[in-house]
Amino acid sequence: MKKPLLTLTILLLTGTFAYAEDQPLHHHPLMQDMEVTKDSRTTLNLRAPVREHQLSMMREHLQAVNDIISDIARGKFEDASQIAHQKLGLTPEMKKMCNRYHNADFRKLGLAFHQSADELGDVLKTGDINKSLKALNATMNYCLQCHATFRQ
Ligand code: HEC
Repeated sequence: MKKPLLTLTILLLTGTFAYAEDQPLHHHPLMQDMEVTKDSRTTLNLRAPVREHQLSMMREHLQAVNDIISDIARGKFEDASQIAHQKLGLTPEMKKMCNRYHNADFRKLGLAFHQSADELGDVLKTGDINKSLKALNATMNYCLQCHATFRQ
């Protein structure tokens, strides 16, 4: 690193830390944000084993989305399509799992999400990158919508 740049970096870093130390904790901008954002999402009241299972399913969903993006980037649309159908689509097992939840709105959103993943799988098969990204975006909007509405 060149000397002036190094000096600037040190100034910036020490400046930032000095600022953080000066502020009483509850006056820190981040803490203030945390105070105003209360978690008002609907709770599903899940029991511990169900919680763990749900989170591990979710991590698999995230993995699937990442694999789909990776395959799109490499032009491997057929592989991406298979992941969408098999890992995110409305397979009989997925349907069974979704239907175990007591909250009807959650079930509805979950099923709509898996259906959109099957549509994504169909679009991916066409090999059209723009349409595929739009379909992926539509599916991911379900992730966002559900996370904004429900918690465990
Ligand atoms: C129908 C509802 C629903 C949909 C759709 C949904 N999720 Fe979730 N997800 C949840 C809930 C509920 C939690 C737990 C959140 C909480 O309690 O704060 C969660 C948690 C997660 C977590 C945290 C996992 C952990 O180990 O802490 C990840 C990652 C995640 N979801 C990814 C995704 C992705 C990616 C998608 C879409 C491809 C998705 N989810 C779609 C309901 C959903």
